[in-house]
Amino acid sequence: MNSAVGYSEVRLIGTGGLTRSETETVAELLHGLVAGGAALGWVSPPAPDEVAVLLADVTAGIGPGDAALAVAYVEEAPVGFGYWRRYERPTHRVNADLEKIAVAPEHQGAGLGRTLTTVLIAAAVQHSIEVLTLDLRGDNARAVALYESLGFRRYGTLENFVARGPARYDKLFYALDLRGVTV
Ligand SMILES: CC(C)(COP(=O)(O)OP(=O)(O)OC[C@H]1O[C@@H](n2cnc3c(N)ncnc32)[C@H](O)[C@@H]1OP(=O)(O)O)[C@@H](O)C(=O)NCCC(=O)NCCS
Repeated sequence: MNSAVGYSEVRLIGTGGLTRSETETVAELLHGLVAGGAALGWVSPPAPDEVAVLLADVTAGIGPGDAALAVAYVEEAPVGFGYWRRYERPTHRVNADLEKIAVAPEHQGAGLGRTLTTVLIAAAVQHSIEVLTLDLRGDNARAVALYESLGFRRYGTLENFVARGPARYDKLFYALDLRGVTV
């Protein structure tokens, strides 16, 4: 994709994972988003080491087909990422959870979140994932619009389940049934 901000591309990451520099950039990206109030599961920004451990764990799942990691680059610098991981419970192993999608604020609205999610859905189909789930905070209208437009269906709501200080938010549960979908 070519836009005013420069050449952008979304790539699925291989078993080698991200470089140290890319990992640091993703950590900075998450730090900025969470500090700005993004609903990504953290109350305060994660430390760079925590992000590195998380990305290493996701990367370890790529080889055996237990995870997929996609990164959005602008001019070769990571500006967004997302991943899914297969459920660990033996009876749920045919399914995976889309745990995070995040795009740097200055690059939001340019289609990268949609492309990241689409690429991760295609990877799930390739890995014969049957149902791809996700959950999100109820006030995240932009993410809700994105996921619903890609076919995710809401299957539940836990009211006032998410706590951020004194504030409470609904937790929304979504699923995309991939059975019968081909690449
Ligand atoms: C949610 C998020 C990943 C979307 O990424 P993005 O790159 O901005 O999204 P895109 O540009 O691909 O737009 C995808 C859809 O989001 C919605 N959207 C995008 N910009 C929007 C805006 N300014 N206002 C309202 N909706 C908007 C639209 O439905 C859009 O669909 P379209 O392509 O038909 O216009 C991004 O906003 C983000 O990183 N948010 C903070 C972290 C977060 O909340 N992640 C999701 C956790 S579940």
